Amino acid sequence: MYGNDFAPPEDGPGGGLLGEVEAAEAALREAAARARRGGPAPDEDLAAYFADVIDADQKIEPRDWMPEAYRKTLIRQIAQHAHSEIIGMQPEGNWISRAPSLKRKAILLAKVQDEAGHGLYLYAAAETLGVSRDELVELLIDGRQKYSSIFNYPTLTWADVGAIGWLVDGAAIVNQVPLCRCSYGPYARAMIRVCKEESFHQRQGYEILHTLAHGTPEQKAMAQDAVDRWWYPSLAMFGPPDGDSTHSAQSMAWKIKRFSNDELRQRFVDMCVQQAEILGLTIPDPDLRWNEQRQAHDYSQPDYDELMQVIKGNGPCNRQRMEHRRRAHADGAWVREAAAAYAAKRNSREKVAA
Ligand SMILES: [Fe+2]
Ligand SMILES: [Fe+2]
Repeated sequence: MYGNDFAPPEDGPGGGLLGEVEAAEAALREAAARARRGGPAPDEDLAAYFADVIDADQKIEPRDWMPEAYRKTLIRQIAQHAHSEIIGMQPEGNWISRAPSLKRKAILLAKVQDEAGHGLYLYAAAETLGVSRDELVELLIDGRQKYSSIFNYPTLTWADVGAIGWLVDGAAIVNQVPLCRCSYGPYARAMIRVCKEESFHQRQGYEILHTLAHGTPEQKAMAQDAVDRWWYPSLAMFGPPDGDSTHSAQSMAWKIKRFSNDELRQRFVDMCVQQAEILGLTIPDPDLRWNEQRQAHDYSQPDYDELMQVIKGNGPCNRQRMEHRRRAHADGAWVREAAAAYAAKRNSREKVAA
């Protein structure tokens, strides 16, 4: 079972996600090593060549021709993903100075710093599609591009840091493991590293909840309260139900997306049930039960109207998150200017030396 130090590693529903990351990494290497045609023949139709590469499960690389809509879809998706990593630092950053021990503080610092790193790999992956990081940051700051709605919920207690690690990073992993096999090479490669780091994030959250759930009655109640508040927003992270999901079919055909929103949500629910039992915490869904016929759990859907409201900017923390991001961007202007001046100076020195 992925991200869980308290259960047998491979058993249980939804298990073996880290194994899937390793398999995806091996498949990436194989695809690279396979006899590749060095590119389209001189008179070959570029669109046909692109379709061939996708069919053969090989990777599209930055220099390859690609349909404009494929490029745009990837830019939107990767940018939204990068923005989510960066905004996602805020709810947990809120607890760095208040973590209950030096060890917890060090772990949380490392985790939040990892999220900054994920943002950077992803902005770099997006840049291979011909857009600059500056442009993408502007789009976020202007509110023209989105980030994951989950980060518009507040972190009220220390247990929220545990619930975020377990549920939010857990849902992120379930979403991202299939992206390790995405048809666009730079995105797939970034996802392999990101997923390995996410595994640590989920473990640290799970371990926080496990400690609280086995502590005093007050600590256990705090852990349960955090799970109660984060459960449905985490289910909503997989997006609207399949019937209402606008971009899915084309993304599946391009092998950007490999599973539908509902398939991934089901997988997440099945994975969490056994983990919650080991934690001794209750998933706040009275209708959650094993369905022998489907070999999966029946569960209640999150409130998609609430999700749409949060996407529209009306979540509990949308305004605060964006204000903080804008302020941090403005405060960092001198760093960007200094770095650019230094790079320009170094370039001119190198020119003189040459
Ligand atoms: Fe991340
Ligand atoms: Fe994470």
